[in-house]
Amino acid sequence: MNAPTDLSPNAHWQQRSLASVWHPCTQMARAARTPPLAIARGQGAWLHDHEGRRYFDTISSWWVNLFGHADPGINAAITAQLNTLPHVMLAGCTHEPAVVLAERLSARTGGALGHCSFGSDGASAVEIALKQSFHSWRNRGRADKRHFVCLRHSYHGETIGALAVTDVAVFRDAYDPLLMRAHTVDAPDSRRGNEAEALKAIEDCLAAHADTLAAVIVEPLVQGAAGMVMHSPDYLRALRALCTRHNVHLIADEIAVGCGRTGRFFAWQHTEPATSADWPDFILLSKGITGGTLPLSLVLTTDAVFEAFWSEDTTRGFLHSHSYTGNPAACAAALAVLDRFDAGQEAQNALQAQWLADAFAPLGQDDRVRHLRQRGTILAFDVPGAADGFAERFHLAARAHELLIRPIGRSVYLMPPYLIDPPTAAWLAEAVTRTLNDVV
Ligand SMILES: Cc1ncc(COP(=O)(O)O)c(C=O)c1O
Repeated sequence: MNAPTDLSPNAHWQQRSLASVWHPCTQMARAARTPPLAIARGQGAWLHDHEGRRYFDTISSWWVNLFGHADPGINAAITAQLNTLPHVMLAGCTHEPAVVLAERLSARTGGALGHCSFGSDGASAVEIALKQSFHSWRNRGRADKRHFVCLRHSYHGETIGALAVTDVAVFRDAYDPLLMRAHTVDAPDSRRGNEAEALKAIEDCLAAHADTLAAVIVEPLVQGAAGMVMHSPDYLRALRALCTRHNVHLIADEIAVGCGRTGRFFAWQHTEPATSADWPDFILLSKGITGGTLPLSLVLTTDAVFEAFWSEDTTRGFLHSHSYTGNPAACAAALAVLDRFDAGQEAQNALQAQWLADAFAPLGQDDRVRHLRQRGTILAFDVPGAADGFAERFHLAARAHELLIRPIGRSVYLMPPYLIDPPTAAWLAEAVTRTLNDVV
């Protein structure tokens, strides 16, 4: 189609986009009312449009840009890799970035999760973990262990397997007839103070169905897409013990909460695992692992799962693959991210989390706001009295205050890049408060 010429540069790209790009997570019939921001470039925490306006990326572009946009160190690592080996298939070949990445992630679990599979997006990691769990039981003569347990309002991705363990109606319901059946149990929620009840619910489920269960899947500490619903490490510790007692795998989906987001590299580290048995059977990473540069996901698992596939029989192997499995450039980006953590990123994040907490504390006293909550650099609050359509109105109003922010329902949250200093935290709190004043 011909490009319209009489429009401003932003409107030009918005119009062409709405005509040709099928945007994700978007009802296209309504997209023109909230036209996509036409972004020309990103630098640090800021996104810049075509007309000199800028937006602070408070949500790290769907939680991926941990070090902001166009980070020179990560870009240099990718460029070097592109000039050496952009890609090679990982079946029948191997390469240094994949090997070193697997080794370094394993070391971060103290060797508890020493076997690493590679995928692309988060949902492909979820598919891998579900399949590995089921197939490992099958290889051990327990093909009846084929069902999964997820938590109320969980989110694990949009592919058919991941949706089956997702409990967000707006994403799931249309496809329900296509999905395998999972058990959905009550989730712990710090706002409800219901951890004991939630543990009882999952204990009852395990006691009743363990013989047919492959795994429980959980988003450790923060259920992101549910609206930043938080629970304590105690819940996770108890869940680990329950899964062990009932001989059911535990899958920790750290796609959103991994890579330092909760303060530790793995959210699971908040449980202070003392031995291998204290770790989950699977940990999944994606999103921030490449600092928002290239798609990559990782599934870490145990010797026990790995050994269940060890056989001369090909069909007992884990044959799952994607064309870009273990892409070297993506692995190089991930290694650059790990370098930051080796150099003390966790301590930096602790400071940044405190600066956010200090800056947003006054909002906790605001009558319109409930349940100001935080885990690491995830900060959220609810606006229960807001009228319908709050999320869209807040998002649009925030643009005028130089913020890219997307509430989930009536929950406003920030998951900013790890680039916060005290003045930035203060500015963010002020801009969010001004947006709230405009909307409520
Ligand atoms: C906890 C969790 N799991 C899985 C996914 C799916 O990841 P992706 O969108 O990369 O497929 C997401 C995405 O938001 C997520 O938050």
